[in-house]
Amino acid sequence: MEIRDRIIELRRVKGSELVPNPRNFRKHPERQRSGLRTLVAKIGFAGAELVRILPDGGLMLIDGHLRADEFKNSVLPVLVTDLDEDEANALLATFDSLGGMAEIDVALYKELSSMVKNSFDEFEDVLEDIGDFYDVPLDEGAQPEAPEAQIDRADELLKVWQVERGQLWVIPSKSGKGVHRLLCGDSTNADDVARVMAGERADICFTSPPYNMGENAQTDGYLGKGNKSKYTSVNADNLDDNSYFDLLRMFTQNAINHCEYVFVNIQMLAKNKFVFIDYLHEFKKHVVDVAIWNKAQAQPALAENIFTSAFEFILCFTEDEFPSRAIRTAQFDRGMLRNVYESGNGSRNEFADMHAATFPVEFVSWGINNFSNKDSGVYDPFLGSGTTLVACEQTGRLGRGIELAEKYCAVILQRLADMGLQPELVS
Ligand SMILES: C[S@@+](CC[C@H](N)C(=O)[O-])C[C@H]1O[C@@H](n2cnc3c(N)ncnc32)[C@H](O)[C@@H]1O
Repeated sequence: MEIRDRIIELRRVKGSELVPNPRNFRKHPERQRSGLRTLVAKIGFAGAELVRILPDGGLMLIDGHLRADEFKNSVLPVLVTDLDEDEANALLATFDSLGGMAEIDVALYKELSSMVKNSFDEFEDVLEDIGDFYDVPLDEGAQPEAPEAQIDRADELLKVWQVERGQLWVIPSKSGKGVHRLLCGDSTNADDVARVMAGERADICFTSPPYNMGENAQTDGYLGKGNKSKYTSVNADNLDDNSYFDLLRMFTQNAINHCEYVFVNIQMLAKNKFVFIDYLHEFKKHVVDVAIWNKAQAQPALAENIFTSAFEFILCFTEDEFPSRAIRTAQFDRGMLRNVYESGNGSRNEFADMHAATFPVEFVSWGINNFSNKDSGVYDPFLGSGTTLVACEQTGRLGRGIELAEKYCAVILQRLADMGLQPELVS
């Protein structure tokens, strides 16, 4: 196939002389504009505007509106094409959009970004903005490495930390903003939640409750001595439907009472699917939105004729009835966050071997960075291996969390101690 070359010539034209395309549908937020200014100031123009010739000889933009607008008084390189209006429309609709569909190799992108940062200090903010756009935090290098949860040593760690039900631990954050709080308790219990929140209202709750996966789940249960609540029975992952519904209802109501927004990561499985739907129905007037966690690594279904579960829900609730989809605490610019969180390869933590519903740290950091203010607390009623507290420390938030099982609390305390933090037993 012969491919036509549609470029007639390269001209140099003042930005203000180029005619904006009335069908240009792209809008340019300030951080895109400031990124472009930084780039051009340092590197100069190393790309060209794309235009077609109008009947009166004017040059109408197809691509490069932002450059033309930002640099009205500069002379820009301009590629003049022989495209007609229909062809120009086709390019306008697809040119940038196709480019934006490219997927990224996270490791290569991080490596490239850090090379560029080393060469040019002034690109730091731009690269961080682009990292946000791709959901790839680039400042990880500055963070202490997130230590693995030592689940396999849970019994041993329990002897070290001597955790008992009802204990409240504080863990001073390296940010100097205050302390993280961990309660060995029951998040369906309003008093326990009030105790760990200590009168604060957090921007977000970010959590993953037990999925009630049933007897076959790879879990050793959540044993707590002297438990009063029926939800603290030996295996909270194998409750009857009524008890599981109550667990979801009570923890959610408690979280809504103490947080602006409650993000619940949950998967619909054979054993929980009816309760899951009842749960949505119960809180239907409080649903803000629903997003999806698209998992790069999905475990193939174990039985015949069943979808491989490659995504999980991220439900968002709030206290108001009939809330808008706008999330007041959102930290991202308009149009900058998709409602599909894509996890990279290797996004799992060791606790995943014990329970399929564990968080990769970067998933929680994604939620925290996008939906909570830097000075806000973040609440997790089902801490498990403590990923949310780790992510809070890394993102400069203060974490408040509850875990029922003493031995998992011990795992959490050790994990935080491995980050160089010093947990203190309060009461
Ligand atoms: C799905 S895991 C959470 C995993 C966690 N997101 C992580 O990254 O490790 C659920 C946890 O909730 C705990 N749990 C179950 N019922 C609870 C309750 N009523 N209150 C507090 N924690 C509870 C279990 O012991 C388990 O560790």
